[in-house]
Amino acid sequence: MNSPYRKEYSARMKTLLDERGEENMEKIDKVLVSRDEIASFVERLGKQITADYQGEEIVVIGILKGAAVFLADLIRKIDCPVILDFMQVSSYCNGTESSGNVRIRKDLDHDISGKNVLIVEDIIDSGITMQSLTRVLLARNPKSIKVCAAFDKPSRRKVDYTADYIGLEVPDEFIVGYGLDYAGKYRHLPDVCVLELIGGDQ
Ligand code: IMP
Ligand code: MG
Repeated sequence: MNSPYRKEYSARMKTLLDERGEENMEKIDKVLVSRDEIASFVERLGKQITADYQGEEIVVIGILKGAAVFLADLIRKIDCPVILDFMQVSSYCNGTESSGNVRIRKDLDHDISGKNVLIVEDIIDSGITMQSLTRVLLARNPKSIKVCAAFDKPSRRKVDYTADYIGLEVPDEFIVGYGLDYAGKYRHLPDVCVLELIGGDQ
């Protein structure tokens, strides 16, 4: 999924690469969130979701690809009937709140009308993707719709948006690991790490 942050970062990376004629200038700087901290918020979220839905069936929608790792951990902590589905979307970042600026690359297999829907996302940044996707899915008349994100960067918001469940708030850093990528890389890292430009000025 593209985000405004990713685009800024990629543009900066490309300029540096062109200037230096080098190929790989990003590096893992430090662990920001350890696998133990992740396991503990996943446990907490699973308990909270289980309590909130009180045994009702939930259609859990994983947003590909970033949410795949979190989703796999989270659903095993939810003690309610779960139907699993996936979507892949791209957001457009014109910054307006009103338009449904999300493009669906892969749609759901299930009809969600009358169902409890829980969208599972890796990270909320500008808020545009989740705000738009929630609106698109609301038009399909679910019984309820909520969003659970592993990470949240509230300082990056471009629209007024708050998710229903958040694992952890993170600072304004570009992070990778636990499903999050840079240019398709680093999703497999078990801890969440800060990515830095080698020789960059940020
Ligand atoms: P937004 O909230 O619409 O800006 O987009 C959120 C999406 O941007 C996430 O699903 C990620 O794919 C991507 N994203 C935002 N911040 C980061 C980051 O720090 N690392 C990796 N991907 C990020
Ligand atoms: Mg994503």
